[in-house]
Amino acid sequence: MIVLTVANLKGGAGKTSVSVMLAWWAARTAQGQRVVLLDMDRTTPSATHWHAAAELSTFETRQATKDDVVATLSQLRAAEDVAVVIIDTPALGEMEIVTAGSESDLILIPFRSGSGDVGQVAQTLPLLALPARVNPNLSVLGVMIATGDAPTVDRETRDQVEQAELSVADSQIPNLRLYTTAKGNPISSKNWHYEKLWKEIQEVLA
Ligand SMILES: Nc1ncnc2c1ncn2[C@@H]1O[C@H](COP(=O)(O)OP(=O)(O)O)[C@@H](O)[C@H]1O
Ligand SMILES: [Mg+2]
Repeated sequence: MIVLTVANLKGGAGKTSVSVMLAWWAARTAQGQRVVLLDMDRTTPSATHWHAAAELSTFETRQATKDDVVATLSQLRAAEDVAVVIIDTPALGEMEIVTAGSESDLILIPFRSGSGDVGQVAQTLPLLALPARVNPNLSVLGVMIATGDAPTVDRETRDQVEQAELSVADSQIPNLRLYTTAKGNPISSKNWHYEKLWKEIQEVLA
């Protein structure tokens, strides 16, 4: 069972979008095994709402909190039919990032290009020290939500984030209307950017 935590202290960084899209693409390659999205955002459970509104029945969602996420993950592990768990964390979710991150194989940090988000990425990274100590095999990968039309800004943002010691996935997600309006809507192969990202993640974890 692969466990992925999607983290960034900043709200609006793209965590829920990345979580839901990856859960959907993961379900396409799960070969009959289950994919579970754990929604840790109690204030704005938008992953859960999206899942319900768009009837994304190829994967499951469940609520989890910092107090029960470890138990929930052991339950899912014991079930032996879960291929992938993706954990969506809330804004300012320090405790969620540390507890879920400590149980994870990979922590994904989405950030927006050219929006001054680099500072928030730099603030999120120190929270990963404990998870990295608990799990020496932990991978951490940035996911850039690109501007879509300003390649220089995208390149500079990527460089800044990499200088903050976060390696950034080659696959980047463009800023598209398709994604601004994605919440609550079905997912399809139009969202292929996330398929590419999912493939890259599988390579990182292989
Ligand atoms: N690639 C993208 N292009 C355009 N808009 C996006 C993209 N990814 C996310 N968004 C939009 O940005 C907003 C915040 O995204 P969300 O996934 O909810 O972030 P978070 O969970 O970190 O708060 C949402 O309105 C979402 O539709
Ligand atoms: Mg969210």
